[in-house]
Amino acid sequence: MAAVAATHKLRLETGAKLNLFLRVVGRRPDGYHELESIFHSLDFADDLDVAPRPGATIAVEMTSESGGAVAFPPAEENLAYVAARRLQEVTGSERGAEIHIRKRIPLGGGLGGGSSNAAGVLAALDELWELGLQRSRLLEVAAEIGSDVPFCLDGGATCLVTGRGENLTPLPGPPLPMWFVLGLSDRPVSTARVYGGLAGVPRTGPAVAPVTMAIGAGDAAELAQLLHNDLEAVALQQRPELREHKEVLVAAGALGVGLSGSGPTLFGVAPDESSAREIASKVGTSFDRVVVASSAPNCVRFA
Ligand code: C5P
Repeated sequence: MAAVAATHKLRLETGAKLNLFLRVVGRRPDGYHELESIFHSLDFADDLDVAPRPGATIAVEMTSESGGAVAFPPAEENLAYVAARRLQEVTGSERGAEIHIRKRIPLGGGLGGGSSNAAGVLAALDELWELGLQRSRLLEVAAEIGSDVPFCLDGGATCLVTGRGENLTPLPGPPLPMWFVLGLSDRPVSTARVYGGLAGVPRTGPAVAPVTMAIGAGDAAELAQLLHNDLEAVALQQRPELREHKEVLVAAGALGVGLSGSGPTLFGVAPDESSAREIASKVGTSFDRVVVASSAPNCVRFA
C-alpha cells in the first residue's frame, strides 16, 4: 500500500484568504508585528499537482489559468519551492518533487496565494514522501516559511489569528457561504514595505468580538460595517488609486469594502451571489481583474 501511495500524483486546490479584521497590536524584537486578525478561507484557488521525482531535485513550474507562463518569482522567494526544501532539511529526506501550479491568485496581492501554495506542498509531500510528521511539527515548519502559512495549513474556514500568525483559534464560520467581490491588481505590493510604513503600533482600535459574532451569524451587512485593517492607511499612501477603487465598489453596491492583508486586493462584501455578480459586472474597468468568491471550508483541498 505504502509503495503505491508514494508514487502517485496528488492534485489539490489551495485557496486564497481574506483578512476581515486586522489589528497590529505590538512589535516584536525580531522585527515582526504581533497581530490580532480574522482570516477567512475562500473558494478562489490555485490548482496544484504534486508528484514525487527521482533524485532530490525540487522542480516548480507555474502557469496561468490559460496555460501561459507566469512571471515566476526566483526559487528562494517561491514559497512552494521553499516549503519543499525546508521539508527535505527538517526530515533529512532525499526525495525529489515535481510541482505544477496553475496560478489564479495574484502574487503579492494580500490574499495569501503563495502561502496557501506552500501549505498545499507541505500537506502533499508529507503524504507522498511518507513522512508521517506530527501536525504540530508540520505547523512549526509552516510558521518558518511565512506568517500566513499556518492558517492556510490548519485554519479551517474562519480563524482568529494572533502572534506573528502562528496562534490559531478556529471561529464559527457563517452558516451559509458569504459572498465577496475581489478587485485584483497585477502590480504586487511588498508586505515588508507596508509594515515598514506603519508610523507605530496603534494604541487603540476596534474590538474583534463584534466581528466574530457577525461572521458566526452570517450577517453580511453587519460584517461590512465592522471591516478593519491597520495596514490600510499605509497601503493607501503607497497606492493612492485604491481610495478611488474603494468608492467604485461601494457605488456599485458593495455593503462595505476592506483591504486584504497588506493589499493591494480590495474586497467588497455582497449580500448574496447574484448581487456579487452584479457588482463585479459594474467595476471591471477599475481593476486588472475582478473575481466573485465565496467562503470555503479551508485553504488546502485535496481533489
Ligand atoms: O512572514 P512573511 O514572510 O509573510 O512576512 C513578510 C514581511 O511582512 C516580514 O518580513 C515582515 O516585514 C512583515 N510582517 C510583520 N509582521 C507579521 C507578518 C509579516 O512585520 N506578523
